[in-house]
Amino acid sequence: MGINFKQETFRDDYTFRNSPEQIRRFPFPFHEDGYMYSVNIEPHVPTRKNSVFEHLFDVDEHYVSEMRDRAIVLAEDPLRCQSLPHMTLAGWDTLELLMTEKAASYPDLFTLTRDGDKWHWINRPLGIDDHFTFGDTATLPYSPLEYITRQSQGDFAVCDQRENNLWMDAGMVTTQADWSLDFDIGMNFFEWHAPVPLAHEMGVFTRALKFLTSIQQGQPARRLNWTMTINPRLDTSPENFHKWGTDRATVTPENVGQKVHLRVEVQMFFRLPRSNAILFPIRCYLISMDELTTSPKWARRFHRVLRDLPNELAEYKGLVRYRPTVVEWLSKRDDGAPTSPGF
Ligand code: HEM
Repeated sequence: MGINFKQETFRDDYTFRNSPEQIRRFPFPFHEDGYMYSVNIEPHVPTRKNSVFEHLFDVDEHYVSEMRDRAIVLAEDPLRCQSLPHMTLAGWDTLELLMTEKAASYPDLFTLTRDGDKWHWINRPLGIDDHFTFGDTATLPYSPLEYITRQSQGDFAVCDQRENNLWMDAGMVTTQADWSLDFDIGMNFFEWHAPVPLAHEMGVFTRALKFLTSIQQGQPARRLNWTMTINPRLDTSPENFHKWGTDRATVTPENVGQKVHLRVEVQMFFRLPRSNAILFPIRCYLISMDELTTSPKWARRFHRVLRDLPNELAEYKGLVRYRPTVVEWLSKRDDGAPTSPGF
């Protein structure tokens, strides 16, 4: 409540910063001093006040600026939001889930009034006040999926379930860690995960798919994923690789603290009621090395994780070029003390 929405940029002059409160609630993803892929899925239940898990869909100080950045991406590249014809119902399911949850979690920011299929939606931070008919796309300025995800932080993949598999048949993807909805649309779970190293051999994807295809409505799940980004750029897409790829060569011992960011994704899995689709929101949180190392235990642990990360993972995540510089910088912030499990 009482969120102080920041005016900031995720491109050009990169004015994005986290407030001290936002740093405290950062979803630090490492529960031990090392990292390897696993089926790290847990129930997505609201937990811990003031954490990013307090509500099913977290709204934070970056909301308004992130939505402005999404609008810029879509104006340049409308294919960042796509929906195959059979996915329109899943778009309405998504709109309903996001509106009802946001209105329940943040009543001072969002209000939803329903009278049968006549809905009235107010989004105060973005200055939106719309009446529409649920199920009638002509009454909205965009498709239901695009309408609501232009107002929701994070990316969204919407997966149809058939033939015991998931198919990426719709989505809104403007803040991704180097993958493309336009490339992946229509692919199944194993096809879009094909570039990921080691995890296939470990059986991670076979087990994960089994879990996902049996998720029940009202019992969402979540997992954390992470990578690193140079400059606080949300749109690290293959489509715009020419704009950000060379940033990886600009890291020096002097600028690690400001330029290098840990990028954590809170990934969620929801069964949608009418379409039986799986909604996969991917919520991205960025934190600079200067901000991260304000916590000595995070500094210690991230140093050890990055130093010992298997080369295959470093290669896949695109960290190879600047990893030694960052590890050296972090080593000065690791006093060698043992860390406790968890936190
Ligand atoms: C990476 C989508 C669920 C594990 C990816 C990528 C996409 C994706 C698009 C990038 C692949 C590329 O390089 O092009 C999805 C969707 C899911 C889902 C839509 C659900 C419907 C899961 C689950 C797990 C998982 C349940 C494991 C338990 C991974 C891993 C990576 C990955 C380990 C590599 C990430 C990295 O190292 O940064 N996923 N995924 N995914 N996914 Fe998933």
